[in-house]
Amino acid sequence: MPNTQTVAADTPADDAALLEETLEMVSSRSEDLTPDVYARFFSRCPAASGLFTVIDPATPPMGCGQMLFEIISLLRDSAAGKPYVASYMQQIATEHAAFDVRDPALYREFMHSLADVQATLLGPDWSPAHAQAWDRQIAALLRHLPDS
Ligand code: HEM
Repeated sequence: MPNTQTVAADTPADDAALLEETLEMVSSRSEDLTPDVYARFFSRCPAASGLFTVIDPATPPMGCGQMLFEIISLLRDSAAGKPYVASYMQQIATEHAAFDVRDPALYREFMHSLADVQATLLGPDWSPAHAQAWDRQIAALLRHLPDS
C-alpha cells in the first residue's frame, strides 16, 4: 500500500504540503524548536547574538519564540501563495533596520538554521524533497527583502 503520508515533490506547488509535513513531524518530537534554532543561528553567525538587546539569547527561553513563530508562519503562508507576504517582509526589513539587522545574509542564515534543526531532528524522515521545498521557500521569502 502506498505511503499516503509522503507527498510527491515534483513541483514547487507541493512545497506547502512538504513544509506542513516536516512541521507536523517535528511537533511530535520537540516541544519547542526555539532554543535549538537560535543556538544553530548563533553558531553560524556568532556576532548576531549582540544584536539582541531585549531578548537574552543565553537565558531561557533562549531566543525569541514569537519571532520564530512569525518566520515559520511567513514561510508557510508564502508557500501557500498568500498575498500579504511580500509587503509584510518589507515591513519586517524596515522594522529590523532599527535593530541593526540589515544584511540579507542574516535572514538567510536564520531560516537555514530552522531547516537544519528540523533535518537533525527528523533524521531519515527528512527527505531530499523536504530539503528542496524548504530551500525554495527560503529563497522565495528572501526575494522580498530589499537589497540593502
Ligand atoms: C522573516 C524574518 C523575521 C521575522 C518575521 C522577524 C520577526 C520578529 C518579531 C515579531 C520580533 C519581535 C519579537 C517580540 O517582540 O517578542 C522580532 C524582533 C527582533 N528580531 Fe526578528 N524577525 C525576522 C528576522 C530576524 C533576523 C534574521 C534577525 C537577525 C539577527 C532578527 C533580529 C531581531 C532582533 C534583534 C529583534 C529585537 C529583539 C531584541 O532586541 O532582543 N530578526 N523579530
